[in-house]
Amino acid sequence: MGSSLRAVFTHCLLFLAVSPVRGSNICTSRGASTCMQCLAVHPSCAWCSQQDFGPKEASTSRCDLKDNLLKAGCASKELEFPVSSLEVQENRTLSTKATSGMDVTQIQPQRLHLKLRPDDPKKFTVKVRQVEDYPVDLYYLMDLSNSMKDDLNRLRSLGDELARTMGLITSNLRMGFGAFVDKTVSPYMFLTPEEALKNPCNEMSTFCLPQFGFKHVLMLTDQVSRFTEEVKKQEVSRNRDSPEGGFDAIIQAIVCKEKVGWRHDASHLLVFTTDATTHTALDGRLAGIVLPNDGHCHLNADNLYDKTNTLDYPSLALLTQKLSENNINLIFAVTKHVVPLYQNYSKLMPGTVVGMLSDDSGNVIELIQEAYTKIRSKVELEVSDLPEDLSLSFSATCLNGEFIPGVRSCSGLAIGDTVSFSVEVQAHGCPKDKHRTFTLKPIGFKDALEITVDFQCECSCQAQAEPGSTFCSQGNGTYECGTCKCHVGRLGPRCECSEMDYVTSDQNCSRELNVPPCSGKGDCICGQCSCHRSDYGKIYGQYCQCNDFICPLYKGKLCAGNGVCDCGQCNCNSGWTGDNCNCSTNTADCMSDLKLLCSGRGHCICGVCDCTQPGAYGSKCERCPTCPDVCTFKKECVECKRRQLYEDNSCNIMCSDGMELVDLLIFHKNAVNCTYKDENDCVVHFQYYEDVSSKSILSIIKEAECPKGPDTLVVLMSVMGAILLLGLGALLVWKLLITIHDRREFTKFEEERARAKWEAGNNPLYKGATSVFTNVTYGGNAQ
Ligand SMILES: *[C@@H]1O[C@H](CO)[C@@H](O)[C@H](O)[C@H]1NC(C)=O
Ligand SMILES: *[C@@H]1O[C@H](CO)[C@@H](O)[C@H](O)[C@H]1NC(C)=O
Ligand SMILES: *[C@@H]1O[C@H](CO)[C@@H](O)[C@H](O)[C@H]1NC(C)=O
Ligand SMILES: *[C@@H]1O[C@H](CO)[C@@H](O)[C@H](O)[C@H]1NC(C)=O
Ligand SMILES: *[C@@H]1O[C@H](CO)[C@@H](O)[C@H](O)[C@H]1NC(C)=O
Ligand SMILES: *[C@@H]1O[C@H](CO)[C@@H](O)[C@H](O)[C@H]1NC(C)=O
Repeated sequence: MGSSLRAVFTHCLLFLAVSPVRGSNICTSRGASTCMQCLAVHPSCAWCSQQDFGPKEASTSRCDLKDNLLKAGCASKELEFPVSSLEVQENRTLSTKATSGMDVTQIQPQRLHLKLRPDDPKKFTVKVRQVEDYPVDLYYLMDLSNSMKDDLNRLRSLGDELARTMGLITSNLRMGFGAFVDKTVSPYMFLTPEEALKNPCNEMSTFCLPQFGFKHVLMLTDQVSRFTEEVKKQEVSRNRDSPEGGFDAIIQAIVCKEKVGWRHDASHLLVFTTDATTHTALDGRLAGIVLPNDGHCHLNADNLYDKTNTLDYPSLALLTQKLSENNINLIFAVTKHVVPLYQNYSKLMPGTVVGMLSDDSGNVIELIQEAYTKIRSKVELEVSDLPEDLSLSFSATCLNGEFIPGVRSCSGLAIGDTVSFSVEVQAHGCPKDKHRTFTLKPIGFKDALEITVDFQCECSCQAQAEPGSTFCSQGNGTYECGTCKCHVGRLGPRCECSEMDYVTSDQNCSRELNVPPCSGKGDCICGQCSCHRSDYGKIYGQYCQCNDFICPLYKGKLCAGNGVCDCGQCNCNSGWTGDNCNCSTNTADCMSDLKLLCSGRGHCICGVCDCTQPGAYGSKCERCPTCPDVCTFKKECVECKRRQLYEDNSCNIMCSDGMELVDLLIFHKNAVNCTYKDENDCVVHFQYYEDVSSKSILSIIKEAECPKGPDTLVVLMSVMGAILLLGLGALLVWKLLITIHDRREFTKFEEERARAKWEAGNNPLYKGATSVFTNVTYGGNAQ
């Protein structure tokens, strides 16, 4: 158990370490086999449709990063690599002021064309500015049920002032008027007694108009006095239940564009005044009305809504849609007790505001003014017809350049302020319809940005697909984008074999009986292994038995990064050896200063010195204070230093040690004292030690001890003395020899003399021992 766990763990480690093998990336690893599949993998993937692309090995993918394909020899014109792009088709500048007769531009640009590749987003910027003095259309839609009687009275007197106040906002104002009560069927209407049909107020003994649904009274007009005139003509009516049918009226006021007279380039205000709650969609069922509201205009010749009793009330969604389509800002001017209800509606309907109406509508002018300011102080982009496969993300740059990510509205603006929105569009897939259009529009504006999108999902080479191409085994497939799409029953990269071969050829793919075909790492196709792709590298070999990613590792790198992995073995680059190529054959790093491998104190193993001499260390075993041969090694350095007494660092190049010339050696710990005789027979003393920072120092005595020169006089005298002595000696020996000789001769003579006494007469040479001489001068007595 433990060991198998460990095995798994090591395996994982191995694969982790191995994953950054070249050639494998998101594009190659998905096994995309067609151009379209490839483009869908990732926006960075490209497809090479060149026919003769790449070696035959299955692992060379046509789907790869663009650079890899180019490097692998794909011609750039054969490369399928669509990218998202943007073209501005209409880019008018923003207007500052609305001038009649001129087109006003409040959004820039106006038309864009996008080509979008899935997941490759594109960004653009939209600017929005509300121009000054923009025309305003104001349609006043009033609840004329009985409870609004006082409001109507008040509006009669306020009409002119309303026109005047609005005139301050814009010089181009049109006003219109419409009224509503409710559907004219039970239970919304009094049907009994009979008189109630003509005068619903009969029972209160007053008179009021018969009930009606919606009545369009005054078309939008710039003769604003007509507004007051028409309002003065109005009378209230009466209905039965408390909610009113105002929503019916709203939808007609919106969609009956011609009758109401909404201008194309104006700000559209629809003021809805009521003091009651309202009926909404499905309420019609009470009266048996089940047909949903169709959102179309149904005003008859008398400007009365004539489908009031056949169509149901509109839903909030329908209202919102119609408001947006027609750029209408709806103002709910409602009395206090229904404000919370309409606020809830407003939250669900962008572009609407709620104002609190006093009981008699006395504050309606301020209310409209306020609401208008509120509407105009906010710019919010709305998107319509967004295709499903697109997503948008917004960021707003509002006042003072304040950047707000994730937001598509700005508020607190004054008229004339420009805001901008950065919009990022991204396609997520490939819809059937490759050409779509959607719009971006500030709510309540007529101006919009129209964006057409082309989805870049297809390869251009698909257009040149060649069915029954000869390239694909004599018409057994379709040639498309460099590959063959085989007909049914045909297989292989070129459709070269039929399914029959496929079935019978499995044993050709197994090395041994019990091994799965293609070592379980490939498919046996037509008797040949087609090896799978791997995220880690290439699988190859006749039986897919080899790969280029499982080899000895060193420091997390395959073959130490110095070789190529081939079927489990490292083929080392030159200069490297070993199972994992971690051993350098270069000995340069072992060479010491004195051109000795490891200073002669060790072996160079894989480019690193293994110091064998005890005490030796250092990258070249050059450090060894205790080695006996240190004196010999350092001799050359010392010599160099001594000879070059001037300052020159040529010796330092040769010897890495620090050197100093001293007068006297001093004691250093672990120092070695050395002596040698130079060529002049002088004795040089130096010392080798290491200072506190382990730097080796050679301390050399400046003056070598040289032998003293001999005295010439002494030599002369000695020589002379020696000669004299020798002469004397010779004389003495000679004298001795002579003396000895003389002695002998004398003795011999003596002996002979003794013998001569005997034969004196016989000796002719004998002469008497005495001789007499006469001294003539002698006169006296001789003896
Ligand atoms: C539109 O034109 C303006 C100059 O009037 C330019 O600054 C802007 O970049 C253009 N917009 C686009 C999206 O090209
Ligand atoms: C408005 O909505 C809130 C919360 O959604 C709800 O509590 C409240 O009752 C609603 N008011 C009316 C009048 O419908
Ligand atoms: C398919 O290929 C075989 C042999 O490669 C050939 O004989 C045959 O005609 C081809 N089929 C078609 C439909 O061309
Ligand atoms: C099986 O392999 C042999 C030798 O590799 C080859 O000659 C033969 O054509 C193969 N058989 C099939 C059916 O591919
Ligand atoms: C080379 O790798 C082997 C095995 O991992 C290791 O024992 C050896 O110390 C390494 N040699 C060098 C010079 O790093
Ligand atoms: C080396 O010489 C110095 C100075 O003459 C002396 O103090 C020291 O003891 C000597 N060291 C050895 C190991 O002989």
